[in-house]
Amino acid sequence: MCTYALEVERVRKVFTRKERLPRPEGKRSIRIRTKKEEVVALKDINLQVPKGEAFGVLGPNGSGKSTLIRLASTLLLPDSGTLRIFGHDVEHDTYAVKRLINRVSVDAAFFKKFSPIENLMYAARLYGMPPSEARPKMRAIMKRLGLKESTFRQPMEHMSRGMQQKVAVARGFLTSPILLLLDEPTTGLDPHSKRDVQAFVCEIRETHDTTVLLTTHDMEEADRLCDRIAIIDDGSFVALDTPDALKAMVQSQNGDKTTMEDVFISLTGHTFEDAEAEKEVGA
Ligand SMILES: Nc1ncnc2c1ncn2[C@@H]1O[C@H](COP(=O)(O)OP(=O)(O)O)[C@@H](O)[C@H]1O
Ligand SMILES: [Mg+2]
Repeated sequence: MCTYALEVERVRKVFTRKERLPRPEGKRSIRIRTKKEEVVALKDINLQVPKGEAFGVLGPNGSGKSTLIRLASTLLLPDSGTLRIFGHDVEHDTYAVKRLINRVSVDAAFFKKFSPIENLMYAARLYGMPPSEARPKMRAIMKRLGLKESTFRQPMEHMSRGMQQKVAVARGFLTSPILLLLDEPTTGLDPHSKRDVQAFVCEIRETHDTTVLLTTHDMEEADRLCDRIAIIDDGSFVALDTPDALKAMVQSQNGDKTTMEDVFISLTGHTFEDAEAEKEVGA
């Protein structure tokens, strides 16, 4: 089997956005005028993630993280370039790829009237997992994530966002994917839930042969969970290395207290917040 869990070669993704234009002053036309605008979400990205690695993609909102995860999980097609999962081309070998991966996204969808057990049983069925195997496994994972047994059978809509996110993580790992794609798995969680999810990711890595591709805008999380980190800004990787090597790059200016935040500012010349604000106004 191929030694790379994920290979990304010169991948580019462009979205076309339709923007509504204001009605010209003095005209009474009812025609809605729109302008097409191209957004380059990923600009010729290259990446190789070896089997067993926890690889982090760290970047502000709108920098292209989810686009990369969605391309790797066959939900989107690249405009150019190729992505391979354990040697399988994501575009042409979709079914093989789907069997090897699972994705957890920050906005995971559930049947909200159904309980975690019902939602997870549904997911298990989709993956062809027998209920006798799925049931004990889902209970064990949910307990490990700190969910109380009393919540297992209550409708998802009565659960907090943190609890729902934990069910999403449990669903992501239920099928023991050999590549787990985690798109901001801890964004919006309270500190306690965040720690539970982070501890679970560490445990998965110790006990299973799983490769993890994780996106985050939490600098500390990337530092703690990832073997290597790519820093992404406006669709391009501005650096890619181990957390220590990245910090060492800018250490001379900050001494031993260098953080990932210092690294980002040093490499891009702006803060996360500035990058997000620029993206919002289309700068
Ligand atoms: N379906 C889409 N249609 C139009 N633009 C999109 C779409 N998905 C993402 N984008 C744009 O692509 C850029 C990258 O988005 P995304 O990958 O979601 O960033 P992140 O996950 O880092 O916040 C943003 O400018 C976003 O607005
Ligand atoms: Mg995103």
